[in-house]
Amino acid sequence: MHIPVLLQEVLDQLNPQPNEHVIDCTAGGGGHTLAIAERVAPKGKVLAIDWDPSAITALEKRIAKIPQGKQRIVLANDSYTALSDIVTAKKFGPVHGILLDLGFSSFHLDESERGFAFRKSEQLDMRYNPKNPMTASKLLNYQSRGEIEWIFKKYGEERFSRRIAEEIVSTRRTHPIETTSQLVEIIERSTPASYQRQRLHAATRVFQALRIAVNNELENLESVLPQARDILEPGGRLVVISFHSLEDRIVKHFLRNDSALIPQTKKPIMAKATEVEQNPRSRSAKLRSAIKSNQ
Ligand SMILES: C[S@@+](CC[C@H](N)C(=O)[O-])C[C@H]1O[C@@H](n2cnc3c(N)ncnc32)[C@H](O)[C@@H]1O
Repeated sequence: MHIPVLLQEVLDQLNPQPNEHVIDCTAGGGGHTLAIAERVAPKGKVLAIDWDPSAITALEKRIAKIPQGKQRIVLANDSYTALSDIVTAKKFGPVHGILLDLGFSSFHLDESERGFAFRKSEQLDMRYNPKNPMTASKLLNYQSRGEIEWIFKKYGEERFSRRIAEEIVSTRRTHPIETTSQLVEIIERSTPASYQRQRLHAATRVFQALRIAVNNELENLESVLPQARDILEPGGRLVVISFHSLEDRIVKHFLRNDSALIPQTKKPIMAKATEVEQNPRSRSAKLRSAIKSNQ
């Protein structure tokens, strides 16, 4: 089960009030969604969006057990890049709060068997939504050496991008790269032994880069932020949790530079030591928030 990160901090920043309407753009296991739904009772609603159909199916079962769950939580299996269209189609609003808790969930890592985890041997898929035509395996087998190197450098900030990309291209000449363990072996072959003894596993950056590229994560984030701003009522709150510097940079600049938003967090809010101890995933979480101005 995915443990929601920075739950109290999300509630403090989003500040959901009885009878308000709030959107959770990344519902995942529903931890944040359900806590917000409780706060907006008795007449408020949460629009819970997730791109992954298995997240929405699991959430549907979860909310069926909650009194009035189906009335209070509206589900949408779609990408948040379609936020404006989803809100229109569901006739949802007026919207007082929007939450984005970016990236993947523990379900993806531990249960999905889609190749998100480099410590297990799985097919290299990495899609949140199976309708997405690009998979991690296709990307590694069909993109050029230069494109693969660029992805590792740009989205993973990986020092050995060139060497790893070269080894991928040379390996795939004899057999396609289809599993996480094949990719980990390639990374180990193309990086120095000292690199592999570091605290961060040598495959971490490459796996992050592939996931971002397969799902277009940075472009998706850039597309949803202005939609969220437009959808919010004046005084409405936008809260974003990011997990790496590439995402956080986009969020920081958007909240700072958009004249319709008043940033509420000069520095990002991070998890306290007690939370990190219970949920190591929260270590890299950075929460930023803003209020939509009244003008
Ligand atoms: C960090 S998890 C959210 C966890 C959730 N807040 C909870 O408490 O369980 C991020 C979720 O965003 C979803 N996601 C990723 N990209 C998305 C997109 N473009 N549109 C909608 N959901 C997306 C993933 O499928 C994943 O379930």
